[in-house]
Amino acid sequence: MPWRAAPGQVADPYHVWLSEIMLQQTVVATVRPYYDKFLAAYPNVAALAAASTEEVCGHWAGLGYYARARNLHECAKRVAAQGGFPRTVEGLRELPGIGPYTANAIGAIAFGLPVLPVDGNVERIVARLFAVTTPLPGAKAQIAEAARGLMEDAAARKAPGDFAQALFDLGATLCTPKSPACERCPWAAHCRARMRGLAQSLPARAPKPKRPHRTGEAYVLLDAADHALLIRRPPRGLLGGMLALPETAPSRANWRAAGEIEHVFTHFTLTLRVLAARCKTLPKGALFAPAATAALPSVMRKALDAGCRALEREPHDE
Ligand code: ADE
Repeated sequence: MPWRAAPGQVADPYHVWLSEIMLQQTVVATVRPYYDKFLAAYPNVAALAAASTEEVCGHWAGLGYYARARNLHECAKRVAAQGGFPRTVEGLRELPGIGPYTANAIGAIAFGLPVLPVDGNVERIVARLFAVTTPLPGAKAQIAEAARGLMEDAAARKAPGDFAQALFDLGATLCTPKSPACERCPWAAHCRARMRGLAQSLPARAPKPKRPHRTGEAYVLLDAADHALLIRRPPRGLLGGMLALPETAPSRANWRAAGEIEHVFTHFTLTLRVLAARCKTLPKGALFAPAATAALPSVMRKALDAGCRALEREPHDE
């Protein structure tokens, strides 16, 4: 993984921070190209701080959870102004976008602080190791307490960053959610869930409430050169600060139905009815970008593609 330091080297806090923000709710394979792109564009925290929020949001487009991009940029400005990342968990926690997990991850991996970042992998490992049968999310405090206990171990305290990342890897490769490879696990002999034949069934989870469903509209207005009319979303809320398609008709035009697209967000599913039209020139002062390459969140990319396909089939309006 490109953010990891070579054996014996100290990890760069900027690399650790950037990767940990990107890895929140996002799998390693998705993060990798974005991480490389950010490091190429912003080799250090000062370079990121000096960029515009619009540019940072553009590079983030498609990675999801867009509040992360705004907080990332805010955080970079604070860190650059302070001359570096704080070297305590408490100091890290005060920065935008850094919660308990991320503060512990940066603390352990970049600064060698004796703390354990508890992500989904670590939660699962700890629940199994100590046979915590209380369902999540109720068991969080109990699991966090047991995780703190693990950090009493001398080997863990000697290399907290290696310890944390070894647990991430154990969770990703052996102690997996569905069929854990206990026969190959270095901790099998100590695992209480394994002793009781519970490994596969832990951690228990309370049933999730069903995702609500929302609907809306997206308007695709293309000029003769295939530029799409865009808006910038308000800084807070869903897709905050990102480029997007208008949700209400941006002009009088011969709007045609271009089908529906669906997108699953964490807390709801969204169906957008897409309407599309051609115009000779876009309204003066409007935001626009080439339809094929505009840096858009995935839901907006789907809607724009649907609009473009509909207009290709019937391109010659008025
Ligand atoms: N998930 C979160 N942080 C990680 C890391 N440093 N390595 C692998 N997976 C991770």
